[in-house]
Amino acid sequence: ASLRPSAPGVKAWRMIARKKRRIVLLGPPGSGKGTQAVRLAQKLGIPRLSTGDLLRDHAKKGTRLGRRAEPYMARGDLVPDEIVLAMVAQQLDEEAYRDGYLLDGFPRTLPQAEALGHMLSQRGQAIDLVVDLEVGARESLRRQLGRLVCSRCGASYHEFFQPSRELMKCDICGGGLVQREDDRPAAILERLRVHEEQSRPVLDYYAGQGKLRTVSGGGDVEGVFSKIEEVLAKEEG
Ligand code: AP5
Repeated sequence: ASLRPSAPGVKAWRMIARKKRRIVLLGPPGSGKGTQAVRLAQKLGIPRLSTGDLLRDHAKKGTRLGRRAEPYMARGDLVPDEIVLAMVAQQLDEEAYRDGYLLDGFPRTLPQAEALGHMLSQRGQAIDLVVDLEVGARESLRRQLGRLVCSRCGASYHEFFQPSRELMKCDICGGGLVQREDDRPAAILERLRVHEEQSRPVLDYYAGQGKLRTVSGGGDVEGVFSKIEEVLAKEEG
């Protein structure tokens, strides 16, 4: 018999998708936020907004914002709140985000969480649910050290846990796979330290609002997704 938790059926998913329209996915670097967020957003039919991806995109295009953000990211430090908030506000104003979204890796400081709350309340909206993926430092390190990303479309792989079909080639667009600049040991350790320092107040903020759900990020990708599904199904029930 399968040890996996039972996933909600199609009908339950439709109900979840109708209700939970503004979701935040948090967790330490390498916890699998991005991997799970892509699947979840697709399943719920809502856009995913990853501040990490957005910042990398700006940096790649060499925009003013990207040039300002780049040195922080390369070191593994957080990009200053005002830069990230301006970028998110601009994005959420777009039509595609009107009816809901999945925020991946944002907010990650208390000022960001408070500013988001303020921004949404001005629109008569609020965050519905916050899922925090829990993973130990050793596992997070293992995942980041083996991560490969597509240089063209940004899709994420792992050399052992999630290999591409063809060596160093993206399954989706055929682009070349590379290591992320901040996946060097020194930057990884700094990102873990920064997360440790900054995440607790954010989690406390959402726990205080009764919106925080913690999910173990251990196990394989499908197993973690099932656990997230279970949490969403419980919210419904
Ligand atoms: P960001 O891109 O958000 O990086 P992060 O938080 O450090 O998270 P990661 O992308 O490293 O990991 P993830 O949890 O998404 O894991 P993934 O799914 O890729 O941010 C980068 C930088 O941008 C920050 O350091 C900061 O400078 C800046 N920034 C971003 N947002 C900001 C904000 N709000 N404020 C200020 N600055 C901000 O998985 C990792 C690997 O593991 C992959 O190879 C994957 O294939 C593999 N994997 C995933 N799940 C599993 C599994 N279950 N089992 C085995 N392997 C798995």
